[in-house]
Amino acid sequence: MPHTTDFKSLFRNHIAQLSSGYAAALHATGWDAVVIHSGTLPKRSQFDDQYGSLRAVPHFQQWLPLAEPDCALVIVPGRQPVLHRLEAFSFWEAPAPLDAPHVWPQFDVHGVHRAEDVRAFLPAGRVAWIGEDRVRAASWGLEDAAQNPPALLRHLDALRVHKSAYEIACLAEANRRAMPGHNALRDAFANGDASELELHLAYLKATQQDDPETPYKNIVAIGPNAATLHHIAYGRSPTGAGSLLVDAGATCWGYASDITRTWTRGAGDAAGLFAALVDGVDRLQQQLCADVRVGLPYEELHEQAHRYITAVLRELGIFRCSADEALAHKFSRTFLPHGLGHSLGLQVHDVGCALVPPKADNPWLRNTSVIAPRQVFTIEPGVYFINALLAPLRQGPHAALIDWQRVDALVPFGGVRIEDDLVVRDQGVRNLTRDLQETAEP
Ligand code: GLY
Repeated sequence: MPHTTDFKSLFRNHIAQLSSGYAAALHATGWDAVVIHSGTLPKRSQFDDQYGSLRAVPHFQQWLPLAEPDCALVIVPGRQPVLHRLEAFSFWEAPAPLDAPHVWPQFDVHGVHRAEDVRAFLPAGRVAWIGEDRVRAASWGLEDAAQNPPALLRHLDALRVHKSAYEIACLAEANRRAMPGHNALRDAFANGDASELELHLAYLKATQQDDPETPYKNIVAIGPNAATLHHIAYGRSPTGAGSLLVDAGATCWGYASDITRTWTRGAGDAAGLFAALVDGVDRLQQQLCADVRVGLPYEELHEQAHRYITAVLRELGIFRCSADEALAHKFSRTFLPHGLGHSLGLQVHDVGCALVPPKADNPWLRNTSVIAPRQVFTIEPGVYFINALLAPLRQGPHAALIDWQRVDALVPFGGVRIEDDLVVRDQGVRNLTRDLQETAEP
């Protein structure tokens, strides 16, 4: 738990800001009120009688980090938000208690025995509904046209782009919670030969999270597995390989961190070359963080990442031509196929920053916004040796401009990615991953 951050007053201000944002969104889209459903427990499959744990609807979570099914949050402009909370007793399962005393003073909490009972307490007028379970919406008398109205959703997504001070404090805490996991895996990799599964379990232990609490499935990739960008099929045996890529985060009251580190070990020319590459990507990642400016299109940073990576690959002798020629042939696209980063918040790939499509060269870029204060996003350049992407280059007309001996020496290391979470300030940025101080200003 955080010690010094005043979550109580930050949360009070967050709810005040959210209330005015919702009032404006409802007014602009012609609704009098909105009811947000927390969600229903997900069934493992329609042929199974077992249920998973609830990841609440993000609109609900922005108000309240409560992972209880069938709650209804009713927002009427000018009134205190009302939370209708199910009081049903089940001897099969019970939700984890919410360890967030700061939230309760902001809500009028009303218990209901059955989810259907909420219908009797809905406000009059034009009421919109947000949620996933349309059967539940219908049971509350909310017709199709009131369910997830696209214009309202667009306004509400925009409220998630510029984070409140409370949200930034949660994102900072999620970064602090992840760091013992990354440190534990760095040390375990340097001092032993654990399998990917053992390292994944060690991360959970060090961060004191259960698997469903992590913001996304931990990516733990040893050696060539790092060439699979989202490697989660953990190997059961140690391999002795010379690289480890860990892309893993933590959560704080629904808000996520998303952090990647790549570690190296071993001696010899290939290990030395890969270590130099990791060092180069780490340095260019920090340069990209320093390049962040209010008003700059994020896609311009992505293009800059390609220029920096081209320079590093040339320095390491992988490109045998000038940086300009390598850029003209778009060689770096083979080695960095993903986008430089994405917006971060309640969702790991958060909403509101990819409203326009990226350029054709950047099909996987998930942030095409213009950088603005209080945005939170990742900066995560990488270089990978992915055989399926290397093959066309190897067989193409410019193959002679690549040192394939060096590339082949690096294939067993899979790749490198370095990722931090940044919050944009009016002036400059704060790197939430490298600046872990609790006392730092948002
Ligand atoms: N870190 C996982 C992802 O961004 O998809």
